[in-house]
Amino acid sequence: MTIGNLLKEAIKYLKVKNVEDPSYEAGLLLSYVLERDLSYIYAHPDEVPDHQLIGKYRAYIERRGRHEPFAYITGECGFLDLTFFVDRNVLIPREETEILAQSALWALGKSPAYFDPKIPRLPKKESYRVLDVGTGSGCLAVSIARHCGSAFVDALDISGDAIAIARRNAERHSVANRIEFIKADFLNVSINTRKYDLVVSNPPYIPENDIPHLSDSVKNYEPYTALAAGKDGLIFYRALAERASSLLFDQGMVMAECGYDQGEKVRKLFSERNMETYIIKDLAGIDRIVVALSPGRFC
Ligand SMILES: C[S@@+](CC[C@H](N)C(=O)[O-])C[C@H]1O[C@@H](n2cnc3c(N)ncnc32)[C@H](O)[C@@H]1O
Repeated sequence: MTIGNLLKEAIKYLKVKNVEDPSYEAGLLLSYVLERDLSYIYAHPDEVPDHQLIGKYRAYIERRGRHEPFAYITGECGFLDLTFFVDRNVLIPREETEILAQSALWALGKSPAYFDPKIPRLPKKESYRVLDVGTGSGCLAVSIARHCGSAFVDALDISGDAIAIARRNAERHSVANRIEFIKADFLNVSINTRKYDLVVSNPPYIPENDIPHLSDSVKNYEPYTALAAGKDGLIFYRALAERASSLLFDQGMVMAECGYDQGEKVRKLFSERNMETYIIKDLAGIDRIVVALSPGRFC
């Protein structure tokens, strides 16, 4: 079986299974299995791969045909300029969350590729304490620590399995010495009394009743606890707003990602607690990140 024929077979199969962009997906998976870049795959249609690799490729194509996300099949996902281990215990890091990571780096005095200049920056300090609520794969905690050498991060998650993955990612990117992992339920008010300069969070934010309407690749594969957030999807923002004054230093800030239609509701939860708020839009112009400055800032 040649590369060209393998691709044809896989594209036909993925089309029948209603996978979006079957040609691209078939090529990408083959490039992963053969450990060659895409241009090599397209330039060598007559090459015959080893039969074990053909078997592996067909098994992966079958999994993709069942709408298992590409990142779970390969076990990896890119986030900013880093590659993260992922498995079914963690949400696959999303592009929107890269905006949160970059906004956090902006607040910490760095110069990321994407930032909103109207967002205030934290006062200059030798070191910063950062809390990542719902760390999952650790994509936020690890990329913040990696790109800001003065950041000391507490990465909190209710899932011990997620924390194990986040810890591997911290080790992979040589920042495990500046990240403390905390297995805890953020909704339980008795946890954690430390203060932070910056609290970042991409919490679960999907209303429970919306979960059955998500795509198969999300609802059948990604962890329910990473997605669902009570009746209205706002429980984590309420908890963040309620606890902001005890979690933040006087000049600290919260940065939280939210759903496409939640920006104003989330902003209100913080502004009702006397916090100055901002909304950062994503590249599609959708409200994505709510920034809230410590209530202590106005004392
Ligand atoms: C939407 S995922 C975000 C993961 C990662 N930060 C990212 O941006 O890709 C939310 C995370 O919150 C965690 N989580 C859910 N409920 C929690 C709770 N009560 N306390 C702490 N973490 C929780 C989930 O396990 C999941 O890892």
